[in-house]
Formats: sequence, structure tokens, C-alpha cells
Amino acid sequence: MSAAINIAVVGLGFGEAFVPIYQAHPSVGRIALVDVSTERLARVGEMYGVESRYTSYEDMLADSTWDAVHILAPVSFHANYTLAALRAGKHVACAVPMATDLADIDEIIEAQAASGKQYMMMETSTFAREFRAVQNLLQDGSLGDLTLYKGVHIQNLDGYPPYWLGFPPMQYITHALSPALRLTGTSVKDVVAYGSGRLDEDQTGTSQNPYPTEVGLFRLDGHDLVPEVTMSFFKVARPYIEGFSVYGSKASVEWPPVEKTTPLVYELQDLDPNQADTGLRGRRSTTVELAVDDGTELLPEPLRRFVDTYEVLPANGDAPVWKSAEHGGSHPHLVHEFISAVVEGCVPTVGPVTAAEWTAPGICAHESAMNDGERVVVPQYRGRSGR
Ligand SMILES: NC(=O)c1ccc[n+]([C@@H]2O[C@H](COP(=O)([O-])OP(=O)(O)OC[C@H]3O[C@@H](n4cnc5c(N)ncnc54)[C@H](O)[C@@H]3O)[C@@H](O)[C@H]2O)c1
Repeated sequence: MSAAINIAVVGLGFGEAFVPIYQAHPSVGRIALVDVSTERLARVGEMYGVESRYTSYEDMLADSTWDAVHILAPVSFHANYTLAALRAGKHVACAVPMATDLADIDEIIEAQAASGKQYMMMETSTFAREFRAVQNLLQDGSLGDLTLYKGVHIQNLDGYPPYWLGFPPMQYITHALSPALRLTGTSVKDVVAYGSGRLDEDQTGTSQNPYPTEVGLFRLDGHDLVPEVTMSFFKVARPYIEGFSVYGSKASVEWPPVEKTTPLVYELQDLDPNQADTGLRGRRSTTVELAVDDGTELLPEPLRRFVDTYEVLPANGDAPVWKSAEHGGSHPHLVHEFISAVVEGCVPTVGPVTAAEWTAPGICAHESAMNDGERVVVPQYRGRSGR
């Protein structure tokens, strides 16, 4: 892989974590930083030695030397920033969700096709070490038939920037649902969802959404599995959890209740022919920890250190700092997938159609919840350009 891709990182909250990874990628040339906050621009720019800094997204887009953007601005900017970048002839990586409106999803699919540039939704969960381990167990037949899936994302957003107030939980479904869709290779046909609990007055913001929690059942196209997903942003007393459990006829993997601990694998045992004599009924299961692997062999050598806690040597001479690699070590894998797609001119794993398939069910689930659990048919995107 050669070609130097010049990329602008847009939004330097979560976005900061991607700056050193792009800097280390052998196919990346120059980096620009974009943020409306001059303080953030200065702090991140000085730390990583990045001179190209913009407070205006439009000014960056107007500079044709930037080949690609990675959008990590607040959710409400995702769709418009994606469309503007594609129309300015730039490749786009965008944090989840792709959009919060079905019309915007359609427009992005069309704009990407017209642009001839790549689009990737940077969904962390299916690039995490836990996902790869589960996928291997499914592919080698260890899990048997998939018969049950529970996705969950509970994250308390009190004290987050005010734009999160009243955010419909299901519109952020991708972390909890996408593993089911990538494992089964299919899309959601329809959904039934309910809101649970009621937001307090000071948690609704300007949103019409009354629910702190939403729970949905998603029927798949051409697969018997019915994923169940719980999304919650307010009023649930528990630490952060973002994961999935998947159960099969031979073995299952259950997400641990405590963050940064290892999922468990249950393997169903044969019925013991002598069991009846002991009065025991039902098949037993053994329990072991899931064997996970960082997948460093999939990455160029300079990106490998970013799968785990890594050291940053600030360009301004400040003392070294250690950063933790969040989201299952997925960040360098996402960067490599996106940059590879741009360099090789092929559609990334989570191109516009897959991104739509992973995002639209959440939009439809919120609609269902707002209509007392009415079944909502999810649009189908296959056959449109861009995997
Ligand atoms: N696992 C994941 O995939 C994951 C994790 C965290 C956040 N995210 C997503 O990443 C995005 C950023 O999240 P965050 O927690 O950093 O948000 P944040 O609100 O904490 O930070 C956003 C940053 O963008 C800047 N910003 C605000 N408006 C802007 C604009 N119009 N143009 C450019 N910059 C702007 C802000 O100054 C800030 O630095 C969100 O969309 C979020 O959903 C994804």
C-alpha cells in the first residue's frame, strides 16, 4: 500500500484518539485538525505537532489538498458533514450513527455513489477483539445454530454536553445491534420496540423523546434469530456496558457484567446416560473465558501498539502520557480498514449500504416505541451501490 492520503480529523473529543493512529499509518500523509473550539485545536495540535488547524469545517473542505475526512463532531452534524465532504470530492469516515433520519441515509447512499469516493461508518464494536473471537467460534461451527442474541448499551449521559438531553436511545443502536447483523450477514426486516421509564423534565432538552430506555425485538431477513436490544442513556443505576451476548445450539458467549472483564463461553454437554439415576435433569454447560486476540497481524507494524495502552510523546516537549485503547482495541483496525479502502479503491466493510442496515433499524425502533410498539418495517438497502 503506498499513496499518501491527507486526512482531516473533525471533532477532537473522541476524535483525539485517532490523531496518533493516522499519523502512524504508512499510507497517510498530512493531517489536519478541525474543531470549533480554539482551545481544543491548540491543545491537540501542540500535543501531536499538527500545524494545519481549522475552526471552520467549510474552510477545510474548500482546500482540495485534503483527500479524506474523519467526522467525530456531535451526532447532529454527521449527515450534513458527510454530504458536504462527499460533494467536495473527499472520502468520508464517520463516527456512529450514520444519521438519525431515514431521508439522510438515502441521501448519503446517493451522494457516495455519485462522488466515486469511499464512505465508511466507523462502528467500533465489530472491529473489537471480542467480536473477532465470537466470529471465529461461529465460523468454525463451535456455536452451532444461533438461537438467541441480546445486545445492550447502557451509558449514563447525565452531565454530558446538552445535545444528548432527550436523545432517543434507539437512534444510537449500532454498537448493540451490528454484531448480530455482521454475524448473520443479514439485515433487519421489521422491529417492535417499547420505551421504558420516563425522562425527568430536566433530561428531555428540546427533544420529543420521553424515554430514558428503549427495548426492541428485531426480525431478520432470511434468518430465524430475533435479536433483542436494550438501549439506555438515563435513569438506570448501573455502570457503563456496551456489548452483546450470543447463544447457540452448541455453545454461547455471554458479555460480562463488568467492563474490561472477559466474556464467558458456555459449552453444552451431552446428556449423561446415568443422569436419571441421580435425579438431575437437563444438559449441563461448561464455562470458560473467551480467548481473545488483538489481531495485530492484520495491522501495519506502526499501528500495532494502538490495540492496547500506548504512550504518547508530546510534540511540545511535555512529559509523556499514557492513553488507554478503548472499544476492544478497535481504533487502529478501523483506521486501517478505511485507509486501505481509500488507497485500494474498494468499498470498506462498513460502506454506505452496511452502515444504513446497521443504523436504520434504530430509527425505526424509536418510531415503534413512540407508537406504542407498532411493528415498523425497515427499509432494505441491498442492491444499492456500496456494500
Ligand atoms: N464507540 C464509538 O464509536 C464512539 C465513542 C464515543 C463517541 N462516538 C461518537 O463520536 C462523536 C464525538 O463524540 P464526543 O464524545 O467526542 O463528543 P463531544 O461533544 O464530547 O466532542 C465533540 C467535539 O467536536 C467539537 N465540535 C462541536 N461542534 C463542532 C462542529 N460543528 N464542527 C467541528 N467540531 C465540532 C467540539 O468542540 C468537541 O471538541 C459523536 O458523534 C459520538 O457519537 C463514538
